[in-house]
Amino acid sequence: MEKHYASENEVLYHVGFSRADLKGATIAVLPGDPGRVEPLARQLGVEPSFIACHREYTSWLTHIAGRPVLVCSTGMGGPSVAICLEELARMGITQVIRVGTTGTIQEYINPGEVIINKASVRLDGTSHHYAPASFPAVASFTVTGALVEAAKDCRAPYHVGIAVSSDTFWPGQERYDSFTGYVPKAFQGTMVEWQRLGALNYEMETSALFVTCQALGIKAGAVCGVVAKRTEGEGIVPKEKYDQALQYQIAIVRGAIEHLEKVASI
Ligand code: URA
Repeated sequence: MEKHYASENEVLYHVGFSRADLKGATIAVLPGDPGRVEPLARQLGVEPSFIACHREYTSWLTHIAGRPVLVCSTGMGGPSVAICLEELARMGITQVIRVGTTGTIQEYINPGEVIINKASVRLDGTSHHYAPASFPAVASFTVTGALVEAAKDCRAPYHVGIAVSSDTFWPGQERYDSFTGYVPKAFQGTMVEWQRLGALNYEMETSALFVTCQALGIKAGAVCGVVAKRTEGEGIVPKEKYDQALQYQIAIVRGAIEHLEKVASI
């Protein structure tokens, strides 16, 4: 299949930077929130530098294990994830790690812990533009393995399993605390079904990430911090739990990238 790489100085329309800005980086760390990019770039690695800020895409470069690593926000939901991935692929990115937030649906998982998603239920629209519904949304074995090893190394409270990726925060995640309080019939009772099937968490990006990456030939992994416990309520827990999960996520992502860079250099 012919691939359409960007030229060195072509500024990509949505992310607002060029291949030259990546300084040879092939790995990207992808939080959803643009506000998390700079702190992540500073805490993950050394010599962080600003690249660009355009729409929902804020981008910084950092350095881990002596190699440049891109940190770029994806915005919320599948469409903006896929746009970002298309442009990163054109600039030579070959491995990505999503650093997100999530709501657990399992009793035994708690806020402040982390979930490494190995696959996702495709409750989104974007992934269906890249592959038929029967195609699985699966993480890269290599990237997921690196995340798990790093989680063990830093003694993080982690869980590995399947996400339910929804295009909506309220109805698709069967939340009733919305403006109307109504959840369409198609989603009523779905949380208990996902629980029984052993899915771990609700979030909004990994199915689009995994399927789009598969279609583009990018290896993808995802590590999410737990900020809601749906067996106890629908709200988001206090910020201290988010901060706790984020510190684990940073240690895990750094360790995983060190491992991936080492493997690549052998
Ligand atoms: N993100 C989600 O999509 N759902 C949650 O419950 C928490 C974070």
